[in-house]
Amino acid sequence: MSRKIKAANLWKQAWNLIFAGLNTPGHPFGTPSVATCGSDGVPRQRTLVLRNADRASGSLRAYTDNRSIKMTHLAHAPRVASWLFWDPESRIQLTASGPTLAVPRTEEQAIFQSLPKHSRRAYATELPPGTPTSQAQCGLPATWDALSLEETDYGEANFRVLETRIHRAEVLQLDRDGNVRLVAHRSRDDWALQWVVP
Ligand SMILES: Cc1cc2nc3c(=O)[nH]c(=O)nc-3n(C[C@H](O)[C@H](O)[C@H](O)COP(=O)(O)O)c2cc1C
Repeated sequence: MSRKIKAANLWKQAWNLIFAGLNTPGHPFGTPSVATCGSDGVPRQRTLVLRNADRASGSLRAYTDNRSIKMTHLAHAPRVASWLFWDPESRIQLTASGPTLAVPRTEEQAIFQSLPKHSRRAYATELPPGTPTSQAQCGLPATWDALSLEETDYGEANFRVLETRIHRAEVLQLDRDGNVRLVAHRSRDDWALQWVVP
């Protein structure tokens, strides 16, 4: 059963959802699940906040702590991250994966300097994320509340911007009249779109 949908239109709809995720608080595309794989072959996924996206270069960005396990995963070839988005309203799932590159350090520093104190918390724990503790704790210094913005600058050393250059993406749209699935491959500076069986 075929449906009269243009591949370019569904692809555009997927990008519109990405931008809605960036610009609309609470939009489900704003908090994708991002998977990486360890050198032991064990995959690991976590929720991240989508921080930036660029359709022209096909890139997605998130912020993280350099000491986290995802960064250990991405330090080794093939340095690929896979992003998973789901929007229940449009019933669209998007997966997007590709090499996850370092952003120039000067750019990271400029972004960190623009962050308010409460946004720096995630990069300011005294011990690396994942360190065992004897009791439940947030990991920030006991003096955190009294620190000035400048006194939280030490978090800059831990702050990283992840940028995935999408090589391959898939859009799945669920529909009672028939689901459809589109594969997008980055070819040179454009996308090659191919319908596949859902
Ligand atoms: C709603 C939500 C948003 C999150 N956003 C981020 C984020 O933007 N960056 C980040 O590093 N961790 C974020 N986290 C925490 C991660 O899911 C994860 O626990 C943490 O990054 C450690 O992951 P890792 O040990 O696999 O590297 C978020 C968690 C939730 C529940």
